[in-house]
Amino acid sequence: MIKRLLTVADINRKELDDMMSLSAKLKAERGKNEYKPLAGKSIAMIFAKSSTRTRVSFDIGIVELGGYPLYLETGKMQVGRGETIGDTAKVMGRYVHGIVIRTYDHSDVEGLACHSGVPVINALTDDFHPCQALTDLFTMREAVGGKLDGVKLAYVGDGSCNMANSLILASKLAGVELTIGAPEQFAPNKAIMKRKLGTGTVRWETDPYKAVADADFIYTDVWVSMGCEDEAEERFNILKPFQVNMDLVKAAAPGVKILHCLPAHRNEEITDEVMDSERSIVFDQAENRLHVQKAILAMMFDPQA
Ligand code: CP
Ligand code: NVA
Repeated sequence: MIKRLLTVADINRKELDDMMSLSAKLKAERGKNEYKPLAGKSIAMIFAKSSTRTRVSFDIGIVELGGYPLYLETGKMQVGRGETIGDTAKVMGRYVHGIVIRTYDHSDVEGLACHSGVPVINALTDDFHPCQALTDLFTMREAVGGKLDGVKLAYVGDGSCNMANSLILASKLAGVELTIGAPEQFAPNKAIMKRKLGTGTVRWETDPYKAVADADFIYTDVWVSMGCEDEAEERFNILKPFQVNMDLVKAAAPGVKILHCLPAHRNEEITDEVMDSERSIVFDQAENRLHVQKAILAMMFDPQA
């Protein structure tokens, strides 16, 4: 059983493989079975940042597994008026069976996990977005029709953001060969790159064309993550050469597929032409959030899963 998911490093390779298989099963059987591992269980969803995919897919996924999702915005909770995370965690842990949280400081999610006594799922912090990265592994597995060992992924853009950090951990765990194409100012986190987690490899290139050479998948994320809005102009100027456009796509392997966690800022980090091309699998990727998150929840609450 998975006890918590604060980063991808909270699961091992066996749990990852089980999660991928269960996600495929839940996807194939959606609407056709009576699998209700969350029956009688309430899951709080605490959000301090905007969300479309994460909020909707968790809400629907919890209901489909038989549970009760309780959506809470921090602006309307006492934690938004100064109550500590520790006290909030102790109170929430007496009401609900699990907590999904999206917030700014990763340490707040750690505090919640430490003090609530119930399983906690990180639904995005400034530093990590594990549910998205695990879904990305699932989407790539679907695209290659099997395991990911040796598959080449190029992530291009802001190498310092939550998605880059999580893709580093996910790639290591799944045996993916990840290249991050990012400028010095938005370089990948060296400590995370050094983490020992699995057989995958991670390297950093400052030339986006070198980063995508031979890539099976090209991945990008917004240049201005939530909470970085004050740096928008500086980020646009520095990251402009890292736009995923058709010239860059042509430098990759002939059958390269395009990934984006979404929301996309069209014609900033990715052009319309690439986003809407037949190489793009971004909407399969978005759909898969539902199936993978249901598998994560099942592995937390069903001892047989
Ligand atoms: N990719 C992702 O987490 O999307 P949302 O911000 O819409 O939840
Ligand atoms: N890096 C982005 C991811 C959005 C899903 C952000 O944090 O805003």
